[in-house]
Amino acid sequence: MELMQKGVYISTYGCQMNVNDTERMYSLLEMSNYTPVTSPEQAELIIINSCSVREKPVHKVSSEVGRYRELKKLNPRLRIGVGGCVAQQEKKNLLSDIPLLDFVFGTDNIDTLPQLVADVAASDEKMVSAKFEYTKPYQIETLIRNPGVSTFVNITKGCDNFCTFCVVPYTRGRERSRPMSELVKDIQTLVKRGVREVTLLGQNVNSYTSDCGAHFGELLKTLALETDILRIRYTTSHPKDFNQELVDLSAQYRDKICDYIHLPVQSGNTEVLQKMNRGYSREEYLEKVEMIRKAIPGVNLSTDIIVGFPGETEAQFQDTLSLVEQVGYDNIYAFKYSPRPFTKAARWTDQLTDAEKSDRLERLFALQRPISLKKSEECKDQIYDVLVEELKENNKVRGRTSSNRPVVFEKPGAQPGEVYKVRVVKTRPSQMEAVLV
Ligand code: 5AD
Ligand code: SF4
Repeated sequence: MELMQKGVYISTYGCQMNVNDTERMYSLLEMSNYTPVTSPEQAELIIINSCSVREKPVHKVSSEVGRYRELKKLNPRLRIGVGGCVAQQEKKNLLSDIPLLDFVFGTDNIDTLPQLVADVAASDEKMVSAKFEYTKPYQIETLIRNPGVSTFVNITKGCDNFCTFCVVPYTRGRERSRPMSELVKDIQTLVKRGVREVTLLGQNVNSYTSDCGAHFGELLKTLALETDILRIRYTTSHPKDFNQELVDLSAQYRDKICDYIHLPVQSGNTEVLQKMNRGYSREEYLEKVEMIRKAIPGVNLSTDIIVGFPGETEAQFQDTLSLVEQVGYDNIYAFKYSPRPFTKAARWTDQLTDAEKSDRLERLFALQRPISLKKSEECKDQIYDVLVEELKENNKVRGRTSSNRPVVFEKPGAQPGEVYKVRVVKTRPSQMEAVLV
């Protein structure tokens, strides 16, 4: 007898790591008789893949679960679970805080999900599975149902840096790297499925260390030489570990390693950076930027910034503004500091008010806006290789430059995965328009 397929709906919050984890959950559940559905109404299993890196994470989860109250009344077989960082952080507390919930599973328990949901479906009991796998090596295969032209591949999980504002070391556990030999095979398999660009993912990719001792630079070089992948990106880099070797490699293999580096600075003031436990000073960060720009002219740089870290004075914030001005990022991602459980900075008493943080955030964005605009305008009349990712209407296609800028141009018959040389004719911050050359 055919087993009845059951619908699963997963809603995803937060970073690319979570997006990848959701893909993994769907893939694993598909292998155990679940069908991904596009709305919660069609589902017998709803999973919220949560994020706790910034504000009100538990609240976001509980209000989403609250929206499923009626569905749960209509369908007594419906099971609702929470995974991701809030699940790892709160564990069984979530079950008491949110009575509608049936199960909670941690960031290191995704591969046990099929068994867990089978158990949950067969019983009326609430379940928690949120233990870290400290002893197991990190050996997985990338699970993606329909990889497009561009795909994300985890190379490390966890983080050992313990920046004093960040919950990730607590929600993702100790840092582990996948063996380099397995990454080569994994990426080669993806290439056979049509993938042409991979983004290597980790909280701090620069501290990648394979079981064979190879570091991140060696991994990049090996992937460039031993796989047929066309483009390699990586995120997130940590300034303290970003070194000359890596820059030289990026320059040497520029045909494959992309011209885009996300290098989170967090603050432009050395004292604040020390309190954040970032492991570099303002000057050291600026030296790294110099080093990168020298070796890879035209590289696209972006960053993360936190405003209103505990005790941050106006003068210290001014240092962040001046650094942003000095570097001239193509793009910044800026956030108001928010206290996170378990972290050191959350216990400090010199917290700023929300009004102060909002004010600084606004001033930071106001400074960056014209810089971003100018950076994108500089692309006008430039020639780029664009990897086509998507077909649009009217014979138009959309893709990205090596520097990660989205471009649209007309090319009848073009297919995803092809590369075309184009000249930019119109720049907009969100997307550039180009013509074939
Ligand atoms: N408050 C505000 N922003 C934070 N980030 C991490 N933790 C916090 C926090 N407690 C930001 C950092 C990091 C990005 C992913 O999120 O800038 O680089
Ligand atoms: Fe968090 Fe710092 Fe680790 Fe990044 S490096 S995940 S900010 S602790």
